[in-house]
Amino acid sequence: MNIAVIGTGYVGTTTSVALALSGHTVFAIDHDEEKIEQLKTASLPFYEEDIEELLKKLTVTGKLSFTTRLDECIDQCSILFITVGTPSLLGGQADLSYVEEVARAIGNLMNEYKVIVMKSTVPVGTSAKIKNIIINELTKRNLKIPFDLISNPEFLREGKALYDALHPERIVIGCETRKAQKMMKQLYNNVSSEILFTTPINAEMIKYASNAFLATKISFINELARFCERIGANVGEVAKGMGMDSRIGTQFLQAGIGYGGSCFPKDISALMALASENNITLNILQAVTHVNQTQTDWFLEKIKKALGTLSGKRIAILGLTFKPNTDDIREAPSLKMIDYLLQNNAFITAYDPQGTEHVKKIYPSIIYTSNPMEALNEADAVLILTEWKEIIEIDWKTAISIISSPFVFDGRNVLNASDMKKLGYHYAGVGMPDF
Ligand code: UDX
Repeated sequence: MNIAVIGTGYVGTTTSVALALSGHTVFAIDHDEEKIEQLKTASLPFYEEDIEELLKKLTVTGKLSFTTRLDECIDQCSILFITVGTPSLLGGQADLSYVEEVARAIGNLMNEYKVIVMKSTVPVGTSAKIKNIIINELTKRNLKIPFDLISNPEFLREGKALYDALHPERIVIGCETRKAQKMMKQLYNNVSSEILFTTPINAEMIKYASNAFLATKISFINELARFCERIGANVGEVAKGMGMDSRIGTQFLQAGIGYGGSCFPKDISALMALASENNITLNILQAVTHVNQTQTDWFLEKIKKALGTLSGKRIAILGLTFKPNTDDIREAPSLKMIDYLLQNNAFITAYDPQGTEHVKKIYPSIIYTSNPMEALNEADAVLILTEWKEIIEIDWKTAISIISSPFVFDGRNVLNASDMKKLGYHYAGVGMPDF
């Protein structure tokens, strides 16, 4: 099939690569000329493993091409994906202006039946509004062309986006006609995942509800971690025991310094804003957000208490991105920590395999190092904020000889507490007795 994917951010580019790999011919479109020029040279504007190599191959074979001109490829494409951003507005609502702009462009240019697939995360009920925008544009052209507007949310994890696009656990398709259903089945013919066909409004809600539920698991375990720590229990063991019940499961029960990224905080705000517009209070999500916002404060308090004061202390920060294997620092807990440490007159040296350049723009005065050991030099305390492999695998035996005081605060519980203690560290994780 010939497919147009409009919006070449991380979701659009990953979706384009995955569709091209499964045999379709994909036109990836963006109005940002600079971005398109960069993608044409098979260079990604963000870091995501394996995609760059595939871009090279797929562009050479012609299965994937990049363009700014929807008008030049729309007639050849039977399915059009919308994958533009829906950032948060000040009140937490999703900003739909990019989605609406694409809808107007489609309505302006389409000349025959199309399946239009909404992959951007949009508030529940948006599909119906977008449909009206397209109809309005067609009416302006005195045309009555049939089309189907489908909701097909993405569940891609950054750092594992390509894997998730190629091997989704489920495909959710909100769709109203048999014709569109048939085309979507054909589109995903080569993907061996279960497909749930439902209504567009249900599909939109499934996306938000899934992210909200995962965030709820994280905030639940983080709040429990504070409690465990107070009474001398170990949250890691507690989560392990809970997870052995298949109704609960082990995933997303890793206590830490809170969730970040481009999805959970934004999607939960959007869902709460929509609920409030409908006079509904989502009490659980309010609490989830509160726990997440205070988790870094709680962790910083621990550090301050252990060190006595932060003023004049040299703090080594290991990990800046909101999670490993990405360069994304959006809503990363590290940013709140840096802010607080600087306000309290601490000196910071920081290491991250991919996120440094982005953080440098916000905090130019920090010393950034290109390897983890260098960041540890003469540190009064070490903070592990992202569980990068490079950080977990530090030679902690050697490291103790180059740091000033052996305080390690592990915000991701990735090191073994008793091993660290044996090496002579004062080790503090999240939700466990300090060593
Ligand atoms: C998430 C969803 O997983 C994905 O399905 C959706 O499409 C987009 O949002 P992503 O934001 O890439 O993906 O990352 P994810 O792996 O879900 O982690 C989100 C945040 O939660 C990270 O900051 C991570 O460190 C944190 N987290 C995750 C925990 O603190 N504990 C856990 O047990 C799991």
